[in-house]
Amino acid sequence: MSSKRDLKVAILIMVISMVTGIICYASFTPPASENPVRIMFQNKAGKVLFTHYIHTGDYTEDCLDCHHNLEYDESYNCSECHEETGDEDMLSRADSMHQTCMGCHEDIGAGPVECNSCHSL
Ligand code: HEC
Ligand code: HEC
Ligand code: HEC
Ligand code: HEC
Repeated sequence: MSSKRDLKVAILIMVISMVTGIICYASFTPPASENPVRIMFQNKAGKVLFTHYIHTGDYTEDCLDCHHNLEYDESYNCSECHEETGDEDMLSRADSMHQTCMGCHEDIGAGPVECNSCHSL
């Protein structure tokens, strides 16, 4: 019966190396980017290309300028709170973007404020 025992040992070794392989693969896969390079927003007014990386490097240092919720909630997704249709307590997703984007462009006096200079694609 020793050959049956050998087989069990062989299978055990195979399973162990497979699990080790999967763990190694998972731990060496690089993490998703923390600062996306650019984001293309698809919407009915025309696509908007947003240079996220340049904005956070050259135009502001502070993630909180746009992700204002990070102090109490870690989500980077505006839609988690600003849904497609807003109400008096909560801006819609598009209004939250318009106020953030155009607000800064107007304050600084640089960056597009005309509809079709953002919705240009
Ligand atoms: C000028 C405004 C602005 C600044 C500053 C900014 N972000 Fe963003 N970021 C956005 C917008 C807008 C989105 C898109 C959110 C959405 O689709 O709901 C976004 C999305 C993201 C996402 C999610 C990307 C995805 O694929 O869903 C991550 C992660 C992120 N930002 C990280 C950061 C970090 C880290 C910083 C600071 C270094 C930062 N952001 C600063 C505007 C900004
Ligand atoms: C976790 C929930 C949450 C997320 C995610 C979130 N917001 Fe908000 N946002 C709120 C709440 C709550 C308010 C109203 C209270 C306040 O002003 O903080 C608000 C208000 C705003 C306002 C109006 C501020 C004012 O002074 O009246 C803007 C503009 C805005 N959000 C833009 C954004 C943008 C752009 C994103 C994504 C980059 C985003 N928010 C993500 C919860 C969120
Ligand atoms: C903290 C201030 C700030 C915020 C918030 C901001 N921008 Fe800008 N944006 C700038 C500045 C500064 C420029 C550069 C203007 C120049 O150099 O002519 C710019 C330029 C741009 C340009 C011109 C091309 C480019 O990428 O440089 C686009 C398009 C743009 N912004 C879109 C957006 C969008 C979309 C949002 C909101 C998701 C946004 N911006 C939020 C400051 C800001
Ligand atoms: C600074 C850049 C910028 C400017 C200027 C701008 N928008 Fe937008 N707009 C955006 C972004 C970003 C979104 C959100 C896109 C998304 O998440 O799909 C958006 C979304 C929209 C939507 C989609 C709303 C929905 O519910 O799907 C409409 C319509 C729109 N904008 C119209 C306009 C009009 C009209 C103007 C001029 C008065 C304008 N935009 C100016 C960046 C801009």
